[in-house]
Amino acid sequence: MRILKVDSSIHNKRIKASDLARRSSDDFCETYGHSPLESVAPFQRGEIILGRRVGAGSFSSVYDIQDYNLSAKQSDKYTDEHEQAKKREATAKSVMHGTKYVMKCLKDKLEESDADEYLFHCAAQDIAFEAEMLAALSHPNIIKLHGVVDSHHDAFLDGASEFFIILERLDCTLTDKIEGWAKNSFNPSRSFKSLRSSLSSRALALDKAETEKGAPTTTSVDEGRSLVCRLRVAASLADAMEYLHAQNIVYRDLKPDNVGFDRHGNLKLFDFGLARFMPRHGDACEDVFEMTGLGTPRYTSPEVLFHQPYNLKADVYSFCVVLWEIMCLKKPFGKYNQRKDLEREFSRLDSKPLSINRRWPQPIQDIFRSGLSRDLWARPVMSDMCKVLTECTSTARDLQKFRSLGTFFFEVCCKKTPCDKYSVSISRAEHANSHQPIII
Ligand SMILES: Nc1ncnc2c1ncn2[C@@H]1O[C@H](COP(=O)(O)OP(=O)(O)O)[C@@H](O)[C@H]1O
Ligand SMILES: [Mg+2]
Repeated sequence: MRILKVDSSIHNKRIKASDLARRSSDDFCETYGHSPLESVAPFQRGEIILGRRVGAGSFSSVYDIQDYNLSAKQSDKYTDEHEQAKKREATAKSVMHGTKYVMKCLKDKLEESDADEYLFHCAAQDIAFEAEMLAALSHPNIIKLHGVVDSHHDAFLDGASEFFIILERLDCTLTDKIEGWAKNSFNPSRSFKSLRSSLSSRALALDKAETEKGAPTTTSVDEGRSLVCRLRVAASLADAMEYLHAQNIVYRDLKPDNVGFDRHGNLKLFDFGLARFMPRHGDACEDVFEMTGLGTPRYTSPEVLFHQPYNLKADVYSFCVVLWEIMCLKKPFGKYNQRKDLEREFSRLDSKPLSINRRWPQPIQDIFRSGLSRDLWARPVMSDMCKVLTECTSTARDLQKFRSLGTFFFEVCCKKTPCDKYSVSISRAEHANSHQPIII
């Protein structure tokens, strides 16, 4: 316990934050059945040696963990709870083998200003809920929770930043990747070189072996040039979203800033502060529910933007906006910087602010036409989107089926129709072997 003198107003705010965070966990447990956080490795703040701050959101800071310094006294406490003691030790030891972790906590300044009291309390509830949610989830494309402050909600009594969670360390976000891809993309000859090599059977075998090992499938530069690689990223994200929706969880803050990549290049969805279970009564894809409107306006569905009832399809819309950004390598709704600009645009009945390229493969065009629909009942469910994307990426492996996708890559990269100049090569290729893609 820190022996610091805090004024009574801050003290009261902390008591309320602790109380609300506990209630937030209770809400989670009521739906989930028990607290999955109970089985997460507990750490004291003093056992963690922090490095530099690696990121910050509106309410939270994220720090690199340099090392752990486990207290023997603390470890003794868990000898009865053998699993937790083992998990603490395993986490601490793994640092020596190169595993990297970060600590996420709230910003201290949240508790300092009077105006921010409401925000402090909302943020405390969100991070407590995020901890429970992450403890319950297990998916290769969702960030893993490795530890939590041992005193759980009581930690807020010592200060806003005293409640923390420990996560695997990510190397970059999808925002960083998209920026990198935009710089390196659309060099037609290199793009096709990478496309062809990803199609050759040898490359496929290597690719498969590397994926199984968990190693990166391509370098980031090649990813940018290869739309197949970018669609694979979209397919991994769709997989994570499908998993959440199958558990009746709405994520509510899907955007490239909340999608990360680990050191092996694997996609990891993080920042679960706004994720919630859908109400148990009714159908989470067909019925709509009164819930708080949240998210970043650029990626937020019109119904959420206008504070109307919504359901899991709000995530489907956000996913389509992210997919559009992956396809175009441009900020969606680039000219709309303010929430009110977007509201004005969406108020127009004929509004179609994200253009759909007619040269994109038909299944992708269809995803955008239905997924970005103002009418949430017209939007597909996440599992359908997942199927289409998996099909598109695996189609790239099936040379016969790949033809339309190859044509699309050709057209997008070269901004020409394939039959113009290269018709000889194409027909020769088709004659020689009907299983060959367009040869340039
Ligand atoms: N596991 C992580 N590894 C590395 N950086 C991270 C990690 N989690 C978050 N960050 C960085 O911290 C920022 C804020 O984290 P986030 O969880 O998104 O918090 P907030 O809820 O405040 O948006 C992120 O945008 C990212 O830059
Ligand atoms: Mg965030």
